[in-house]
Amino acid sequence: MTTLASGHKATVLEGNEWAKLIENFTGFKNGLVRLSPGGWVYSKNYCNFADKLYNFEFRKSDVLVMTWPKCGTTWTQEIVWTMRNNVALDHPEAGAAILDRVPFMEADMFHSEDESESERPVSESFKKLCPNADPRDGVNLQLAQSLPDPRTLKTHLPFSLFAPSLLKKAKVVYVARNPKDAVLSYLHHHRLFRQLSFLGSLETFVEYFLEDNLLYGPYWLHLKEAWERRAHPNLHIVFYEDLKAGIMGELKRLDAFLGTGLSHDQLANVAKYTSFGEMKARNNLLINKDIFKNAEIIDQEVLQKDGGFFRQGKSGDWKTKLTPDLIEKLDDWISEKCDFGISFK
Ligand code: A3P
Repeated sequence: MTTLASGHKATVLEGNEWAKLIENFTGFKNGLVRLSPGGWVYSKNYCNFADKLYNFEFRKSDVLVMTWPKCGTTWTQEIVWTMRNNVALDHPEAGAAILDRVPFMEADMFHSEDESESERPVSESFKKLCPNADPRDGVNLQLAQSLPDPRTLKTHLPFSLFAPSLLKKAKVVYVARNPKDAVLSYLHHHRLFRQLSFLGSLETFVEYFLEDNLLYGPYWLHLKEAWERRAHPNLHIVFYEDLKAGIMGELKRLDAFLGTGLSHDQLANVAKYTSFGEMKARNNLLINKDIFKNAEIIDQEVLQKDGGFFRQGKSGDWKTKLTPDLIEKLDDWISEKCDFGISFK
């Protein structure tokens, strides 16, 4: 067991639990840990980065986009980055991978501890901004540390895994999504990426979700930690469903929060540039978009059949995909666990 700077204790999943898990999630080769309290579940290598993440030096001009996975992070980070850096839509680096411009702070945990320096893929931005850095000390983390102001950063970690001073130092945009859509999107993600390779059924995946046992752990607690801080002037909560239903209204609220002072026309340009269709066409998520053609990284059958990272970009997909039994189970979970004042659309 390892004790982290946040006070959490991390235990490696072993025994029957691990044996059962690896049968369903065949891609989890690098092992998992569970943190207590909270029950957060991460890749084992998280422990090597946890304290640096907890003590990350946020700056006053930082904006951190925080969500549980599949709640609209990529969309929101592109909106925020574009509003702050690319209003005229002519920024020379706008075509570069999103994760180079908006580092995914804890993503280094998905790499194996034993990876050699030459096996670790690095982007041109990393080489430029961190010329003497060892990639094994964290490509994403060191990129985040080295980016010039104003930084826009991304995390799926909850508030409790950052120092309590986070909101005193930086602004946070938190994105929430209806759990029924989030779980379906996460299932697709687990089938698409070979590093996860979920082989089980929809029912099994939902069970893992309901029991807080998916990678990234309890969605309800992640939401709760944000909801409890909602009155803080440096926190802005948006719902995926509201972005879908009225993007211009949401962009105006974001504009006020970020202090970007954009005109109606500028916001309309941001809305179009970050629309599902345009982001899907650019598909500049990763260092190299050809990665999506790599059968060792992406399950090509799932890609053809169900779509890629930009799968549907809709809200309410659950109404056609979930059985009445699963809807009832998720509704019970919402009433029981999400009883802190949040309501989903
Ligand atoms: P679906 O799988 O339901 O389509 P995250 O970025 O947090 O991983 O969330 C991914 C989800 O957001 C996916 O949902 C993806 O399609 C959707 N998404 C990504 N870009 C979007 C955009 N510009 N507009 C709407 N939805 C978007």
